[in-house]
Amino acid sequence: MPAKVVVVGSLNMDLVTRAPRLPRGGETLIGQSFATVSGGKGANQAVAAARLGAQVAMVGCVGSDAYGRELREALLAEQIDCQALSTVEGSSGVALIVVDDHSQNAIVIVAGANGALTPPVVDQFDAVLQAADVLICQLEVPYDTVGHVLRRGRELGKTVILNPAPASGALPVDWYGSIDYLIPNESEAAALSGLPVESLETAKAAASQLIAMGAGKVIITLGAEGSLFANGQGFQHFPAPRVTAVDTTAAGDTFVGGFAAALAGGSNEVEAIRFGQVAAALSVTRAGAQPSIPRLSDVQGFSAP
Ligand code: RIB
Repeated sequence: MPAKVVVVGSLNMDLVTRAPRLPRGGETLIGQSFATVSGGKGANQAVAAARLGAQVAMVGCVGSDAYGRELREALLAEQIDCQALSTVEGSSGVALIVVDDHSQNAIVIVAGANGALTPPVVDQFDAVLQAADVLICQLEVPYDTVGHVLRRGRELGKTVILNPAPASGALPVDWYGSIDYLIPNESEAAALSGLPVESLETAKAAASQLIAMGAGKVIITLGAEGSLFANGQGFQHFPAPRVTAVDTTAAGDTFVGGFAAALAGGSNEVEAIRFGQVAAALSVTRAGAQPSIPRLSDVQGFSAP
């Protein structure tokens, strides 16, 4: 039986337009395409972990609309356990995404049903948390819920991963002691640490600061520059596999899901980071959030160009 990854987090329907560049304030641009794609950081990480070899359960909320049905079906199609996925009256979460010709994106999310994932709702599914080997949270559901789940994960002795995305400022300090792996990108690491992250050296300073704040281990994802691992004793930089990027949406989610699946499956941290990086590199070669996430056979068959 594959190891169990439990994701507590968001599901969004992504409304994705492609345009030559990202619009400026007040500007109307003519786009090239439009698609609705299943996404949300929590759901993307659940799909990544499932496609990459883990048995996965999702704890979250969708709305009573057509998007909610589609978001649930997308997870069920990956054999993800949805017994802890509640349907609440109203709209599902949505993300308005513009992707430009340089494969960069800009995203605005509206929480919708994700806002209904409160601590009492999570508590109804405590048995699901208890069955986890690895527990993953992000920040697209209420902060109270994230703090509650991190503490519960620590109490239960689970491996706890926080992907602090999106982050605009410091996290509650009492969260840090419950986090085994904190996985921010550069801007999130800067927001959390209060330090600029613009190079490998500044990333090291931010990672040290986050460990001093109480995080167990920190992995800062650096986009095309790979990732930086810090454990309080030292640092290791992992360069990213070189690929031609089409769309970076969900690359971070693919890394987190892949890292968690590998860790849960018995890989050590170094193996899990390399595995997550290959998965994330493959995801940027394809468009969309969940459609871009590779399968285990894709990662196993990958050889650097
Ligand atoms: O990380 C990518 C995700 O961010 C998208 O799928 C979108 O839903 C937003 O949550």
